Amino acid sequence: MTLPRRDFLRLVGTSVTTISTSALVHALNETQVKSKTTTATKKILIAHRGASSYAPEHTIESYQLAIKQGADFVEQDLQITRDGQLICMHDLTLERTTNVKDVFPTRYREEPVASSETRRWYVSDFTLPEIKKLDAGSWFNSTFKNERVPTFQEAIDLVRRKAGLYPETKAPDVYGRLGFDMEQLLLDSLKKNGLGTQSSEKHTPVIIQSFSAEGLRKISGLFKTKIPLVLLIEGEARTRWLTTEGFKEAKQFASGIGPAKALLDKNIVMQAHALGLSVTPWTFRLTDVGRFKTLREEMSYYLYELGVDAVFTDNPDLFPRIRP
Ligand code: G3P
Ligand code: CA
Repeated sequence: MTLPRRDFLRLVGTSVTTISTSALVHALNETQVKSKTTTATKKILIAHRGASSYAPEHTIESYQLAIKQGADFVEQDLQITRDGQLICMHDLTLERTTNVKDVFPTRYREEPVASSETRRWYVSDFTLPEIKKLDAGSWFNSTFKNERVPTFQEAIDLVRRKAGLYPETKAPDVYGRLGFDMEQLLLDSLKKNGLGTQSSEKHTPVIIQSFSAEGLRKISGLFKTKIPLVLLIEGEARTRWLTTEGFKEAKQFASGIGPAKALLDKNIVMQAHALGLSVTPWTFRLTDVGRFKTLREEMSYYLYELGVDAVFTDNPDLFPRIRP
């Protein structure tokens, strides 16, 4: 089931409540085109992997800091352990963000990369108790030594009633080939926690994102959820999705699109909005501001000039909540 953009706006908290919803979508587009001073909706701050510029990504410290810095949503990238537990981690493998090489030096797979072999420690080769032995903080900074990899349940326990949850199903096709159903695990977990319902959205809104259109179609069609779904878009996928036909197709199962920021221009944002899709680009961080002088300036341009609805940022403290 597709959640219209007006429902996405209701979920994330629009500041315009006195006009009809169809008028709202129209007004939003008109406002963004015509006015440089009026902001029709609340802009949404999503802490990307937590406050990941300041603390190791996907750790409790990073999520806590994100909440402290005023995040509306805290993002969780999801992977699945050998014993079928959802954990919060960006990569399919453990070696970039933990000390797995030291703790389990022989538990790697050799993978051919170009002409050389590369060793990979896959999440799916380790049980949750094994992963809990790993230090997920020292790679970032020694002051975070012994931070642990959080389960999705631990992320829920920390974030709920303080901010929204923004889980991403990472590589559900890969996990599907291993016998796991990532979409089912995610929805079961939300259900068990009483999340993703009309009443819970008031205190803990949930939005599900994925690069997998197939996975989102499944969540929308098979599970018939009303949770807003955001289709992530990068690279060559732009030629399929960032077109009028692509927007119409996406609208069948998603309430919004999440393109890499470099793919966006004002026309794309307006077209998506006109079809009722929200637009949420990524990733805004201090180390990648392109032609802009500051990160705040870059985020302001996307939010208030291009008119996107929300942004993913590693620096929640620099989010321009109000138009400068
Ligand atoms: O989920 C939005 C953005 O995070 C997608 O890129 O690779 O950081 O998960 P990635
Ligand atoms: Ca992500």
